[in-house]
Amino acid sequence: MYAFSLVLLFRECLRSDRVHDFLGLVTLEVRPDRHFMVREALEEDLLAVMNINRVCLPENYTYGFFESVLHSYPKSFLVSEVDKRIAGYIMCRVERALSRFQRFKICKAGHVISIAVLPEYRRMGIASSLMKNAMKVLREVYNCSEVFLEVRVSNAPAIILYEKLGFIKVDRIKRYYMDGEDAYLMAKELVLFE
Ligand code: ACO
Ligand code: ZN
Repeated sequence: MYAFSLVLLFRECLRSDRVHDFLGLVTLEVRPDRHFMVREALEEDLLAVMNINRVCLPENYTYGFFESVLHSYPKSFLVSEVDKRIAGYIMCRVERALSRFQRFKICKAGHVISIAVLPEYRRMGIASSLMKNAMKVLREVYNCSEVFLEVRVSNAPAIILYEKLGFIKVDRIKRYYMDGEDAYLMAKELVLFE
């Protein structure tokens, strides 16, 4: 009887728009006080994500690139919603890299490929929440012991955000960007149960 009810519930979910809730739309944080929530991204979010990327950053990617990151690392591709509108995103991948904290050690490191929040939703804590939730997933789901990213040396808001979250500048990469600007390589160790 119980199994039968479950099958009915499953079919009901497949028919209704709750399908994603039932099939694994994972909400990581709800902040009613600030009117936003953070959840895993879905394929149907990608056009909105691409739009935010274009509005906010000069580094843009093809639809296929966003799609391949989502397929490869779905748990650390997150979006933030405000009143059902996608307001920000973060996408990461996992790489084997030389540890930035332990000499001569190869580790699994989370790479924050891109993060952005639409201008009208900034300074609400959305990027901080995206970063914290992605770092938790990188540590707990993908087993990363470190996380790193590149950021323009002129991007003060982002650098302040990362430093607040415990990142440190570990290198400066000359002419990293197409227009010739340098990047800071910033990294942070990920400890369990932080
Ligand atoms: N000036 C100074 N400090 C800032 C600023 C700013 N403009 N923006 C954020 N901060 C710092 C503050 O300390 C802030 O805390 P506070 O508001 O309590 O003072 C803290 O960061 C957290 O800010 P959030 O509200 O969590 O950040 P927000 O949601 O506004 O997003 C972001 C920050 C992502 C940098 C946003 O400004 C943005 O989308 N910028 C354009 C895209 C971009 O630069 N992305 C990062 C590129 S690097 C990469 O992708 C790896
Ligand atoms: Zn990068």
